[in-house]
Amino acid sequence: MADIAPNSELAVQRSGSLKGAVALVTGSGRGLGHTIAEKLVSLGADVAVHDIDEDAPAQYGEGPNLTAVAAALGCGGTRTIGVTGDVTDEEAVANIVRQVESRLGQVSILVNCAGGDIGAAGTKPNPNGAVDISMADAMAVFKRNFISTMLMCRAVAPGMAARNKGAIVNFGSLNGHQAVSPEVIYGCAKAAIVHYTRCLALEMRPAGVRVNVVSPGPAKTARFLATRTTDPKMMEEGPSLDRYAVPGEIADAVAFLASDQSRFISGQVLRVDGGIGLYAA
Ligand SMILES: NC(=O)c1ccc[n+]([C@@H]2O[C@H](COP(=O)([O-])OP(=O)(O)OC[C@H]3O[C@@H](n4cnc5c(N)ncnc54)[C@H](O)[C@@H]3O)[C@@H](O)[C@H]2O)c1
Repeated sequence: MADIAPNSELAVQRSGSLKGAVALVTGSGRGLGHTIAEKLVSLGADVAVHDIDEDAPAQYGEGPNLTAVAAALGCGGTRTIGVTGDVTDEEAVANIVRQVESRLGQVSILVNCAGGDIGAAGTKPNPNGAVDISMADAMAVFKRNFISTMLMCRAVAPGMAARNKGAIVNFGSLNGHQAVSPEVIYGCAKAAIVHYTRCLALEMRPAGVRVNVVSPGPAKTARFLATRTTDPKMMEEGPSLDRYAVPGEIADAVAFLASDQSRFISGQVLRVDGGIGLYAA
């Protein structure tokens, strides 16, 4: 009987380790972004913890300021830095990337987590429907979610392509996959992120740079809990999937799409919603 050749593909260890990677996670001073930064650090990446300003982590009581949050995340041989800037502003975005690359090295993982249904005044738009939302709120929500994601990708993806190395994870939402009211413009901005991701993934394919979306359902972040009425049954963390996500469940999906465990996956949407949005599509 002929010898069976060892399967070289299976012999390669794909540990998901991010040792040697430089990750920039936008909006990671608090909320899901913070848990994602924590997860990437635990896998060995050097991580730039970013937020709009130093005070963002304190807004819902998640940390004293960005510098303290970034310092607390550093562990072992991993480096973490704090960087600030408004991701809806092209110059600020260029400055964020410049700072990260001069202090940590070239970005190999970009997670565009900054966003949310936050209007012009920094609170949830009200009214918030398809035709009654103010134009100031509509523009603010669209810029905060879609334009910011596009600006960061424009600033980082060409360098990744030139180096033939990189993974980008953008952020969608359940609201971007099904009809909603209120939060309509927010849902539209998230749907736009999904399509932009597919198109950028197509452009980046020859260079081997992967671009995907993680699309959460409702997840228990401090802002989520502070800005909406929650269903007590959905707060329980039992075996049922009929509940809100905990941030670590979203972070695990981001880590998968950022690592070599997803090395042949690009242009996809990974919905992390416990099946809450199941429908035929
Ligand atoms: N929590 C949920 O239930 C949920 C569900 C679906 C999608 N999401 C998405 O997940 C991401 C994180 O949400 P979260 O719940 O952690 O909210 P969060 O408010 O805690 O975190 C968002 C972060 O983005 C930052 N940010 C907002 N606008 C910015 C700007 N212009 N420039 C720089 N930073 C800016 C905020 O300061 C904050 O740190 C968002 O994109 C949100 O739309 C959240």
